[in-house]
Amino acid sequence: MWSPEKYVEALQFAADRHAGQKLPGSERPYLVHLTSVAAEVMRGIALDPVADPDLAVVCALLHDVVEDTGTAAAEVAARFGDAVARGVAALSKDPGLPKGEQLDDSLRRIRECPREVWVVKLADRINNLEEPPHYWTAEKRRSYQEEARRIHAALAEAHELLGARLGERIERYGKFVGV
Ligand code: NI
Repeated sequence: MWSPEKYVEALQFAADRHAGQKLPGSERPYLVHLTSVAAEVMRGIALDPVADPDLAVVCALLHDVVEDTGTAAAEVAARFGDAVARGVAALSKDPGLPKGEQLDDSLRRIRECPREVWVVKLADRINNLEEPPHYWTAEKRRSYQEEARRIHAALAEAHELLGARLGERIERYGKFVGV
């Protein structure tokens, strides 16, 4: 079972670093995304356990802290340990690469991490396949669905239940793509 103390510590860190950020196209704080991903992870690993539940839950709460707030992976390591920092780094796109290569590069690095990190990426995309921001074009929606299929193909084997949930969400997202 995960530790509530570690959950709260990671949540507070994420809240400080993402302070003022909102969800795209919404007035909701960005933290809603992070806690939603954590909820998805926690349900998944309650039903189909992983070896290190804290690694999965803390990575869920911190998964965007490097990519979206400029926090250094070294700082995450000092505060939450090397395994969390490696997971968060793998879950972060490398801005030095061309845009078209960033997802596959991240997926390759996630696959070098323990299963707990794969689970976070599955849960992240499950949550991100809720209704898209209203201003996204049909083309953007289509490419987002296609990306989700690549995530599913690369990572679904890590967790049967979350893999299946992502598969369902990808199909359901078709209604936002309009085909
Ligand atoms: Ni995310």
